Amino acid sequence: MTRRAVVKGVGHYLPERVVPNAEFEQKIDTTDEWIRTRSGIERRHFAAEGEHTSDLAVNAARAALADAGMNVDDVDAIVVATSTPDLTFPSAATMVQDKLGMTRGFAFDVQAVCAGFVYAMTNANALVVSGQADTVLVIGAETFSRILDFDDRATSVLFGDGAGCVVLQAETGAGTSDDRGILATDLNSDGRYRDLLYVDGGISTGTSGVLRMQGREVFRHAVEKLAATAHKSLDDAGLTADDVDWIVPHQANIRIIQGTAKKMGVSMDRVVVTVQDHGNTSAASIPLALSVGKQNGQIKQGDVVITEAIGGGLAWGSVLIRW
Ligand code: UT7
Repeated sequence: MTRRAVVKGVGHYLPERVVPNAEFEQKIDTTDEWIRTRSGIERRHFAAEGEHTSDLAVNAARAALADAGMNVDDVDAIVVATSTPDLTFPSAATMVQDKLGMTRGFAFDVQAVCAGFVYAMTNANALVVSGQADTVLVIGAETFSRILDFDDRATSVLFGDGAGCVVLQAETGAGTSDDRGILATDLNSDGRYRDLLYVDGGISTGTSGVLRMQGREVFRHAVEKLAATAHKSLDDAGLTADDVDWIVPHQANIRIIQGTAKKMGVSMDRVVVTVQDHGNTSAASIPLALSVGKQNGQIKQGDVVITEAIGGGLAWGSVLIRW
């Protein structure tokens, strides 16, 4: 018998304000056409003034708990993946804990930029499998609009704000790939690539800084590394790409999503795509896509779902789930 971390609920929250590509046309030298064809993005959501990452996260957590038919008393731990916490500390996770009215258990943040959600899921899975927690909220939440240079057309048009949450709960499985729950995880990073994607501020500068990216270089790494990490998780679980019902990729660029699916030999009708509506929401993009994919009837109980992401670090990885 094997302890498995099974997805019991999923939910998301997007800030009210929708920013279409046209809004950028008025301010910088760009076009809706360029943004759509190079990235697949049509619109994104931006948080309101005074609305912070922990606010988005708590709304996603409430939606996921409702979907699971649970309440906060059922939760042992909260893991928040974010690179845009409200403050340097305390963690966004303890802010969510407080806002949910949860006075027991523990909460912490994971920072692996766009790969944050796969890192958070891997940590949460380890907590569940080792018996340190039975029920964990795993949240990806970001307010990237706060770290954009709106004069830089190469980055400002790509990112958005949002949050998604998955409720994981311990169940006993047979230890085979037929079990529901997280079947395999794979994490990687290589700090030599720090200059490809970083924020130029922080404790060392006394400013929160803005995002800097060599997009073409990140793109060059993305498809190969994403397909490799997805295959590693599938191999570890004794499955192949033919067994995959849904790829739920990090939503950075439709061309990366298409390239990775093609490299894996999976057709695009088995890929959940939300990049057109959300832009790149960094650590929030996968749980947002999981939630939208469940809501619109794509992802169903028993489906094999592979999530994969790459971002600043570089850091990348994948999580294989039987839903
Ligand atoms: O989530 C974290 C991981 N991040 C990613 O996965 C992002 C990966 N990279 C990408 O998605 C793509 O590289 C971008 C969407 C960022 C850029 O697409 P690209 O096809 O790689 O374009 P490029 O950077 O090679 O730029 C092509 C041209 C350049 O002009 P020149 O040098 O050819 O004259 C850019 O200056 O497009 C120009 N350009 C723009 N033009 C209009 C760059 N940004 C814009 C813009 N509007 N917003």
